[in-house]
Amino acid sequence: MADFRFTNKELYCEGLKVSTIASRVGTPFYLYSYHKLVTNFNEIKKAFSPINPLVCFAMKSNDNMAVIKALAKEGAGFDIVSGGELQKALLAQADPRKIVFASVGKTDEEIILAIKNGILFFNVESEPELVEINRLAKKLNKTVQAALRINPDVSAATHDKITTGTLQKKFGIDLKTALRMIKSSSKYSSVKIKGLHIHIGSQITTVEPYVKALSKVSSFIEEVRAAGGKLEYLNLGGGIGISYTGEKVPQPKDYAQRLLPILKKVGLKIIIEPGRYISATAGIFVTKVIFVKDNGVKKFVIVDAGMNDLVRPSLYDAYHEIIPLKSTRNKRIKVDVVGPICESGDFFAHGRMLPELKRGDLIAIMDAGAYGYVMSSNYNVRGKVAEIMVKGNQMSIVKERESFKQLIAGENIPNFLK
Ligand code: LLP
Repeated sequence: MADFRFTNKELYCEGLKVSTIASRVGTPFYLYSYHKLVTNFNEIKKAFSPINPLVCFAMKSNDNMAVIKALAKEGAGFDIVSGGELQKALLAQADPRKIVFASVGKTDEEIILAIKNGILFFNVESEPELVEINRLAKKLNKTVQAALRINPDVSAATHDKITTGTLQKKFGIDLKTALRMIKSSSKYSSVKIKGLHIHIGSQITTVEPYVKALSKVSSFIEEVRAAGGKLEYLNLGGGIGISYTGEKVPQPKDYAQRLLPILKKVGLKIIIEPGRYISATAGIFVTKVIFVKDNGVKKFVIVDAGMNDLVRPSLYDAYHEIIPLKSTRNKRIKVDVVGPICESGDFFAHGRMLPELKRGDLIAIMDAGAYGYVMSSNYNVRGKVAEIMVKGNQMSIVKERESFKQLIAGENIPNFLK
């Protein structure tokens, strides 16, 4: 993470000292490096440049408007999963012709919004959804494009909760049904089935599952062509994993090297939907040590952030590197880093060797730009934290810390309790 680096034993984000930002905005907060964000995006673009794919950033990984705007300016498209994401993308001036919409449960309102705004594709996840999109498009007097999200039934060797491409999971359409839908596509006069979509999972750290899925998809494409289906696009989904622990993982160029020959043979326009690869390493999460306590068996470093702010460790047992913002103490001790929430699952690290920390110290939880803020909640009546973006020597508060007033807005006491 060169955009997050130590100079004179102090952590910097681009040209700014992270501790200075902390003293200005208070803790906890998410901090994004603009440079790292666009670099990650362009790295993927460059790796796959021989086939010039449309890179649709998976907004679910980080939907901050500054992040969307920064990527839209670089030419990114967006992979969305809700009407809310669509509205945010449009507000940030994303090009609707570069927006693809996946979700197993699109509501009528969401479908209508997407049709009216002229998105590139619906990634259709079931037959009843296709029927509904067709009905609504007809009603609106529009013809829309769809890609069928097929479920290739390949396991992706990642955490079970983020595996998607097997038939044990709710996602996509099995090949038999998909072929039947394509064969009967004349029934859907307001929808053009123009492509296929796959997304086999997230935080994938080997190229193999993609090769396997692609080989299944390639033979399926042959079947579709034989059945008279006219495809233009293949969307490979997201999933490129990053190294949270420092171990070596394949980089975009490694994926490209293995996949480009296969993709060239497929001969369709390619869409990819990376989220984590672009946003994870572009963000850190900064929190402050409130207390240190030793119960005779274990030492606990209690910080001012909780699982409501960053849920990945609690939810997936995810590992995030933790670094004090000032690296002046060398002695390392084994600690649990925990939050103030009333659950034992509220932790950021278990049994981690860290430099000795004391009250008031600031720490950075690394690689937190993806699935960090977006998954945060108000559990325990805790306001959402601030989000900051740095470019060079400039910092900007790209999302204000949520006030108590904002937190309770919309809550009403019923008359019978007054
Ligand atoms: N496309 C589709 C259809 C997806 O469902 C996803 C992620 C992506 C693209 C982007 O995948 P990525 O490149 O970010 O791996 N909250 C979990 C990850 C959930 C992923 C959901 N789908 C986590 O914190 O690890």
